[in-house]
Amino acid sequence: MKQLSNFGSLVVSVPADSTAHQVIIRPAKPKDLQGMAETIVYSFHPPEGPISWFYPVLKFLTTEDLRGRLNSAPAKYLCLVAILLDPEKGLEEAEVVGTAEISVRPRFPWPNPSYTFVYLANLAVKNSYRRRGIARQLLSYCEQTAREWGYNHLTLHVLENNDQAKQLYASSGYKCYEIEPSLNNLLFNFPRRLLLSKSI
Ligand SMILES: CC(C)(COP(=O)(O)OP(=O)(O)OC[C@H]1O[C@@H](n2cnc3c(N)ncnc32)[C@H](O)[C@@H]1OP(=O)(O)O)[C@@H](O)C(=O)NCCC(=O)NCCS
Repeated sequence: MKQLSNFGSLVVSVPADSTAHQVIIRPAKPKDLQGMAETIVYSFHPPEGPISWFYPVLKFLTTEDLRGRLNSAPAKYLCLVAILLDPEKGLEEAEVVGTAEISVRPRFPWPNPSYTFVYLANLAVKNSYRRRGIARQLLSYCEQTAREWGYNHLTLHVLENNDQAKQLYASSGYKCYEIEPSLNNLLFNFPRRLLLSKSI
């Protein structure tokens, strides 16, 4: 890693088809909201079947959700974007290709400042930019930030049928601590959520 955290930018080279592109990983700004929402919606709800009819609504809701978190920005909350630098375009036109969020959450349903943990959400990379190490770089930035916040674990959920994400987390040192029981799994065979954590 070249330059990291204290909420700075990290510049990484990612191999593209035949050339090397540069990706900047940095905290999100309000101007990134649309690109982030698009990345999250397309990544978590691939455009197959009737779901695509709801994309405008999903994008709007996701944008507003992200805006709320960015605006309220508690001290221990970080929203990251991966931005693709295209030498033909200026920085202003650079495309958001990845996202990740971390925040400190209570371990139990009641507030106790000494029982908190750092939780990762919305790690996503646009389909056409996958398998270039972008998610791993986002993850690594999150881990370093969590360490700087004074935590020694990073925790997240993944669905049991999400093989690509499971592979990413396993190869990055995450271990499964719990398979959450689910009524939907029992009744409809929906995938269960796995709770993963890594000592960082
Ligand atoms: C999971 C996801 C974030 C990975 O993004 P990515 O930028 O392609 O991941 P990376 O290139 O950093 O891959 C890192 C490692 O993850 C694993 N991996 C990623 N995609 C994989 C795939 N399709 N098949 C198998 N392993 C995969 C590999 O071990 C890979 O290392 P390698 O390329 O050296 O073999 C991306 O596929 C995505 O956005 N998926 C939809 C949203 C999602 O499921 N997010 C996770 C929620 S828990």
